[in-house]
Amino acid sequence: MEENKNIASFYKELEKKAELGGGEDRIKKQHAAGKKTARERIDLLLDPETFFEMDKLKTHRCNDFGMGEKKIYGDGVVTGYGKIDGRLVYVFAQDFTVFGGSLSTTYAEKICKVMDLAIENGAPVIGLNDSGGARIQEGVESLGGYADIFLRNTLASGVIPQLSVIMGPCAGGAVYSPSITDFIIMVNETSHMFITGPEVIKTVTHEEVSKEDLGGAETHATKSGVSHLTASNEEEAIVMIRELYSFLPSNNLDDTPVISTGDQPNRVDKKLNGMVPENPNKPYNIKDIITTVIDEGHFFEIHENYAENIVVGFARFNGQSVGIVANQPEHLAGCLDINASVKAARFVRFCDAFNIPIVTFVDVPGFLPGVEQEYGGIITHGAKLLFAYAESTVPKVTIITRKAYGGAYDVMASKHIRGDVNLAYPTAEIAVMGPDGAVNIIFKKEIAESDDPVKKKEELVKDYRAKFASPLKAAELGYIDAIIQPENTRKHIIQSLDMLKNKKQLNPKKKHSNIPL
Ligand code: HXC
Repeated sequence: MEENKNIASFYKELEKKAELGGGEDRIKKQHAAGKKTARERIDLLLDPETFFEMDKLKTHRCNDFGMGEKKIYGDGVVTGYGKIDGRLVYVFAQDFTVFGGSLSTTYAEKICKVMDLAIENGAPVIGLNDSGGARIQEGVESLGGYADIFLRNTLASGVIPQLSVIMGPCAGGAVYSPSITDFIIMVNETSHMFITGPEVIKTVTHEEVSKEDLGGAETHATKSGVSHLTASNEEEAIVMIRELYSFLPSNNLDDTPVISTGDQPNRVDKKLNGMVPENPNKPYNIKDIITTVIDEGHFFEIHENYAENIVVGFARFNGQSVGIVANQPEHLAGCLDINASVKAARFVRFCDAFNIPIVTFVDVPGFLPGVEQEYGGIITHGAKLLFAYAESTVPKVTIITRKAYGGAYDVMASKHIRGDVNLAYPTAEIAVMGPDGAVNIIFKKEIAESDDPVKKKEELVKDYRAKFASPLKAAELGYIDAIIQPENTRKHIIQSLDMLKNKKQLNPKKKHSNIPL
């Protein structure tokens, strides 16, 4: 009996040691840097008392550079599983207090173990990243450890949601694990991601840039698009990840949770009737329409400050989680450019992989013209969005609020690429191009030869607008299922989603598609 007690306290002591990570001094340093420890982060992330830690007593096996004398239980990463709102998740949290959170073979094995479990059991992996990268003392073994993780990230892609929070450094090839995952949240000022840091850049390209400007949260949220969400502190990042998961299924075969808010499905809102300006050249904020029609006006926007000419994010209709994609007339008149196409394509593919219906709001004058766009490969990048929509088999409901011109009409979940329900406001203009451009091309000679070219053009524009700049022709052809009054938008979207809830559509069998990357 006494012996049992001693054994139990022996293991308790070891666990306590493990819980201290790199020790009290390093924990203090971590706090002084405005960061929490790995365990504090997990405590915040998971429902109380649900965390089960695995491999708490695992240590590294390196004996080079005096490492044999420096073994710390857990070896710099806390791994296990727990629950968020009662739903299973697997988690790993890198512990910067242990060798700077650097990745050893042992550490990689711990992460791979939870990833394998997550794939087999169909639940997400959440990674809390805070690491100095490859454990330098372990050399190539550490690189192998990274590759083992990258492989699992890739195999898990589209099977379980993978969510990353960057809460410290994330540099070198280490950035590729989060970037294969579905969503990256960065914490302002305390997180950084880059392939090579400012010093290397200075040596190689002679550019001088601060760590923050190079790879801080704002840079990746606005310039590179690497990060999807920015949190002002770690607590906010954790709240975001919990909320993000509430919109997602646990795996690609699971249903998304239905969270009823009590918002009436038939709610009519007359202010929608005046939201699209009469003047087709006047901008408006598409988010005003989105937040008016979704449950409780609650929109969880992704990539808010990147490629703002397209808006993507999650919302609910009658409790059902949906992905929203919308052209934003307030930025670049809602044109599709390279960044917007890539941003939306990735979002559409995420929703399709995880059976989340897509609701698309269209007000797009076309693809953005320009030498820069052409040289940058708008042809290939624009095709990504077309491909993503065309390939997707989830329910797709499309509402054209105003312009749907040219190739962009086809791209934005049109009937022709398997839009299920396509609706248009009476203000919709669906044509090959806007009246001005069209008249200039097809009546070039008539205008030039007219006694009063300005008046002639005005008349022709008026004619063209009456004939083509309306949803009537598309409705006559069945490309639009109905022309709806804006005030009824919510009702019609919910009705459509309800009608489509058992939708089953299969693409031809193949190894995988060849999306224009
Ligand atoms: C081993 C490391 C380490 C590493 C940090 N430490 N990085 N140990 N391998 N990669 C240790 C330090 O020795 C120190 O130990 C402790 O962690 C904290 O580090 P500090 O430098 O004191 O902290 P700080 O000033 O906050 O700077 C953090 C840092 C810096 C910016 C991350 O440590 C740094 O630059 N580290 C090296 C980063 C790097 O080049 N990694 C390799 C990238 S290439 P003590 O005992 O003093 O507390 C890579 C390839 C991956 O990762 C490829 C995948 C395919």
